[in-house]
Amino acid sequence: MRAGGSDPIREAARLLAGRRNAVALTGAGISVESGIPSFRGAQGMWAKYDPMEYATLHAFMRNPRKVWEMLSEMVSVCGFAAPNAAHKGLAALEERGVVRAVITQNVDGLHQAAGSRRVIEYHGNLDELLCVYCWKRYPTRLRWTPGTVPLCDCGEILKPNVVLFGEPIPWLAQEQAEEEARTCGVLVVIGTSAQVSPACDIPRIAKESGAAVVEINPEETSLSGHVTDIHLRGSASEVLQRMLGALST
Ligand code: OAD
Repeated sequence: MRAGGSDPIREAARLLAGRRNAVALTGAGISVESGIPSFRGAQGMWAKYDPMEYATLHAFMRNPRKVWEMLSEMVSVCGFAAPNAAHKGLAALEERGVVRAVITQNVDGLHQAAGSRRVIEYHGNLDELLCVYCWKRYPTRLRWTPGTVPLCDCGEILKPNVVLFGEPIPWLAQEQAEEEARTCGVLVVIGTSAQVSPACDIPRIAKESGAAVVEINPEETSLSGHVTDIHLRGSASEVLQRMLGALST
């Protein structure tokens, strides 16, 4: 937390209310309270699945059935998950005209389910399957059932339309995210360890363009103390609820 402000949540709320052109950047931590595991740490996906074997484009092209062991778990868990108070809090901030966009690294669709309208999906979305041979696309719910590996009409194994390591960020999402970062007054970074490039550049772009950076995370990250102006330690739902309360008073 930054020294000086007696209550950092009130200080952050004042910033948001004053500038009214905030953008949020979210990561896996915001969906933890919806029952979706994050990636890093003892309980994270990468403790169970080595990302080099399960999360690269190369691994998918070499052995898509193996990669689907992990993808099946992700699609199932995300399919049953519902937005939590943090997703809803961000949607409420958009409704009030405080937050204008959410850039998310998450592929679970929970921001849209909570009511956020301007959502930039930086790493794609699990809702769609894509054939990397003939480029045909399908809604996941029409093509995948638990325990199966989804096939394209051309016979190849489909890949969720999410960014695996070794794949580029979808160009439109990249453009829009950078534009939001360059022009926002406050960037609220929620539940990301900021270890994956190029998403981790977004806070730096915002900061260098003059924005204040507010971080919501129970832990220190690579941004804390350098890029972050105000670090609000706590769970995303608790901090965002308190922030909404502070904005109402
Ligand atoms: P990580 O798993 O790296 O980080 C999750 C962050 O959320 C950590 O900093 C936690 O401290 C924090 N956290 C945990 N619970 C929280 C809570 N209740 N409220 C707020 N914060 C909480 O996840 P990401 O940073 O999102 O990409 O990972 C970035 C990318 O790495 C993912 O999009 C994925 C992964 O590899 C690809 O697969 C391309």
